[in-house]
Amino acid sequence: MAKDPGRVLIFDTTLRDGEQSPGASLNLEEKLAIAQQLARLGVDVIEAGFPFASQGDFAAVHRIAELVGGGEGPIICGLARASSADIQACAKAIEPAINKRIHTFIATSDIHLEHKLKKSRQEVLDIVPEMVQYARSLVDDVEFSCEDAGRSDPEFLYQVIELAISAGAGTINIPDTVGYTTPTEFGGLINGINKNVSNINEAILSVHGHNDLGLAVANFLEAVKNGARQLECTINGIGERAGNAALEELVMGLHVRRRYFNPYFGRDADSPTPLTAVRTEEITKTSRLVSNLTGMVVQPNKAIVGANAFAHESGIHQDGVLKNRLTYEIVDARTVGLNDNRISLGKLSGRSAVRARLEELGYDLSREDLNEAFTRFKDLADRKRDITDRDLEAIVSEQVQQPEARFQLSLVQVSCGSALRPTATVTLADQQGHEDTSVAIGTGPVDAVCRALKQLVDEPNELIEFSVKSVTEGIDAMGEVTIRLRRDGQIYSGHSADTDIVVAAAQAYVNALNRLVSALGHKSIHPQRDDVELNSRPSI
Ligand code: KIV
Ligand code: ZN
Repeated sequence: MAKDPGRVLIFDTTLRDGEQSPGASLNLEEKLAIAQQLARLGVDVIEAGFPFASQGDFAAVHRIAELVGGGEGPIICGLARASSADIQACAKAIEPAINKRIHTFIATSDIHLEHKLKKSRQEVLDIVPEMVQYARSLVDDVEFSCEDAGRSDPEFLYQVIELAISAGAGTINIPDTVGYTTPTEFGGLINGINKNVSNINEAILSVHGHNDLGLAVANFLEAVKNGARQLECTINGIGERAGNAALEELVMGLHVRRRYFNPYFGRDADSPTPLTAVRTEEITKTSRLVSNLTGMVVQPNKAIVGANAFAHESGIHQDGVLKNRLTYEIVDARTVGLNDNRISLGKLSGRSAVRARLEELGYDLSREDLNEAFTRFKDLADRKRDITDRDLEAIVSEQVQQPEARFQLSLVQVSCGSALRPTATVTLADQQGHEDTSVAIGTGPVDAVCRALKQLVDEPNELIEFSVKSVTEGIDAMGEVTIRLRRDGQIYSGHSADTDIVVAAAQAYVNALNRLVSALGHKSIHPQRDDVELNSRPSI
């Protein structure tokens, strides 16, 4: 059997695989905010990015390693293809972290070998030990992944894994890259590796999987029963195509059904010791932060973090829950930190009350950021009677989103109604403070605003998604708007919240435009799709 840490290690890849979702790209401040929250959540490993992709990715991983990779914090990991140039960049990026890991990978399925890598099995068998050894010469902690393991020949997989472990990999990761396997098959694959790889007891077995058939979480839980002890997952399940296995579902599955899983860890069914180190009360906040910053809206019926996950609409259910909540509830909403119906602040609250509440919510803001948050809080308090935690989170997450804003929205004004053609006037300021105004007519007020803004910024783009949802209940609730723009096949999202949804739409559009403009000219390499000379020599 593979090495057993006695519990499940949670490897979060929101900032790497999650960020590979179309339109989910994050700036440095956003990545830092998420990494800090992941550390509070208590994940064991943060995969902070793919440093070879671009200077921006390298800088983000380096900064996360500096700020979040302290002694007590999680392991900071970077992804590297099995190429010396990638591995070298990765080692440099994670260097400041006390606990650091290089995660290197190569595909092992025949379909990937033939069509993507154009390499023989023997070539892969030569590259793996060389590159794992090279990574081990730079750091002590190396993880090796067999990309597309789910569709690889198990006998070949066993050979590759044995070589990777002999070369020094301490974690072996088995990805179901295209989300193809079923739970029984995936559990069987892990079982087969445990039985057939002679040195498997020297490594921790990890799993990684995509949700193309909606089976990722089920596959992982079956893998756990067969000895997998590290789960690679993302917040809200974001990631390539249908996404990755969702962290919150895995953690809560292992938490709620502890009695069922305990025996697979050699424990008594009744053992109260948690199966992961995740602080479940941080789950809701982390989910909202990731959704706000990536612009990936969480579906209302999503398990654990969806808006309806704890709502009891039907009369029969409500009656049952009131008599005894166990009739229809298997998770107490407070376990995942859902307690924000609490009214926290109002118009008369001062700066220190706002700071204290933000600190309780986990936001440690600099003086300038706090000043800005307080101004926005006051502005909101003039329009909305009670400010909830959820409102405060919306204010702060938008602030994180626009640190190097190229354009600032100075004014938005709309006239509309049954007898009027919706007309918008908007003013944008550039970084030098120069203002420009435009007027446009649209099919509705939001359309008019977006048209007017588009006229001001000379960058072609297509609006492909517009969604609004209310942050809290009540007629004076803030509306959260997410806008996604497409240009040259790339998607850029912007997010904003305001009691006036037309203002929120204008600001979300400007946030998306800022993202688009700042990404222009910064080409990033995709770790799994772009070509690479895999056995290139180190340039050091
Ligand atoms: O899906 C996958 O195979 C991956 C690997 C790079 C681990 O993301
Ligand atoms: Zn993946």
